[in-house]
Amino acid sequence: METKRLDYHRDMEETIQTTVDYWKKGEVVAFPTETVYGLGADATNAAAVSKIFRAKERPEDNPLIIHIAGKEQLHSLTDGYPAYVDQLIESFSPGPITYVLKSSPRIAENVRGGLRTVGIRIPSHPVAHKLLAASEIPIAAPSANRSGKPSPTTAQHVLEDLTGKIPAVVDGGSANVGVESTVVDCTGEQPVILRLGKITKQDIEQIIPVAEIAEGQHIDAPKSPGVKYRHYMPEVPLILALRDEVETIRKHQLAGEKVGVLTMDAASDNLGDKVFLLGKSKEEIAAQLYRSLRDMRQTDVDVVIAIGLNKITAGEAVMDRLKKAASLIVE
Ligand code: TXA
Ligand code: MG
Repeated sequence: METKRLDYHRDMEETIQTTVDYWKKGEVVAFPTETVYGLGADATNAAAVSKIFRAKERPEDNPLIIHIAGKEQLHSLTDGYPAYVDQLIESFSPGPITYVLKSSPRIAENVRGGLRTVGIRIPSHPVAHKLLAASEIPIAAPSANRSGKPSPTTAQHVLEDLTGKIPAVVDGGSANVGVESTVVDCTGEQPVILRLGKITKQDIEQIIPVAEIAEGQHIDAPKSPGVKYRHYMPEVPLILALRDEVETIRKHQLAGEKVGVLTMDAASDNLGDKVFLLGKSKEEIAAQLYRSLRDMRQTDVDVVIAIGLNKITAGEAVMDRLKKAASLIVE
C-alpha cells in the first residue's frame, strides 16, 4: 500500500476532503493533534478500528481514545457522567486531556478493549479540529507510532513507523505539547488520574479533589490497560541518572562505550561523546523528548544517559515517560 502525505497547509480543502472520504470508507488516516500524531478511524465501525490495531501491531485489549470536535457530541457517546466532568471540560477542553466515561453501545467494542468505559478527548489542534468537525464522526485514535516506539510528533515520524501500512498521513507540522494527554477516570465520585500529561494533578485540583491512586497500583489495574505494556522503547539503551550523573557517564566510557547524554541545555556539552539537548523550559523539554528518543537511533552511541532531569526541571509527565523508556534508573 502506498502511504500518501497530505500537506494540510498547502492543500487545505483537498486534505480535509480526502481524509473525511477515507474515514467514511472505513480506512485509517494519521493526523496531528496538539499532543502527538494520532492514527484515526471511525469509532463506530469495528472493521475500521481493527485496522488501527493491525497497522500499529497493538495488543487488542489496550483501548483507544475517541476524538470529537466539540462537547455536543459527548452525550450520544456516553451513558451519563458525573457533574464535575462538565466543570473539567469547561476548564481544560479543547485540550490535552482525556475523560474515561461510561460508554454508549454506539462505540465499537474493540475501541474499548472489552471495557464498559471509553476515553474521550476534544483536541485543540486546529487541524485535528477541522478534520473532526468536517467528518462529524467520532474518531478512535491511539498515538500513530508502531507499538513500542516513541509517539510521533511529526508526520515524518509517522511515515518512519507506518509507511506501507496506512493509506495516508495528514502533515500539519509538529505537535507542540509533545507528550500524550492526561487520562482521567471520571466514572467515580472523584476523578482519578490514570496517565500524566501536560495537565497536572494540581491543575485538576483547582476544580475538584483528585482521588489518590497508590504509586505503582495502576500498573496491574484493569482500569488503564495501556500502562501494563512497555512503551517508548528506544533502540539505544537509556539510563536515567537521578544521581551520580558524572560517575555514571565515566563508568560507561571507561568500559569503552560511546556515551550519549540527554539533558536540558548546553551546560553539559563537555560530558559524554554526543549531547541530545531537550531545551530549557518544561514545555520545550516535553516538545523535544520523543524526537530525541528517535534521533538516538540514527547515531552510533552505545548508550544514552539522561542527566539533570527531575520533576522540577522537566515536569512529571516527562519523568513518567523517561522512566518507562529507561532500561536502568540510577536513584
Ligand atoms: O494525547 C493522546 O492521548 C494521544 C492523541 C493521539 O490523542 N493518544 C494516545 O492514545 O496517546 P494511546 O492509545 O496511545 O493511549 C491511550 C491510553 C492508553 O494507556 C489506554 O490504556 C488508556 O489511554 N485508555 C483508553 N481508553 C481507556 C479506558 N476506557 N479506560 C482506561 N484507560 C483507557
Ligand atoms: Mg501510545
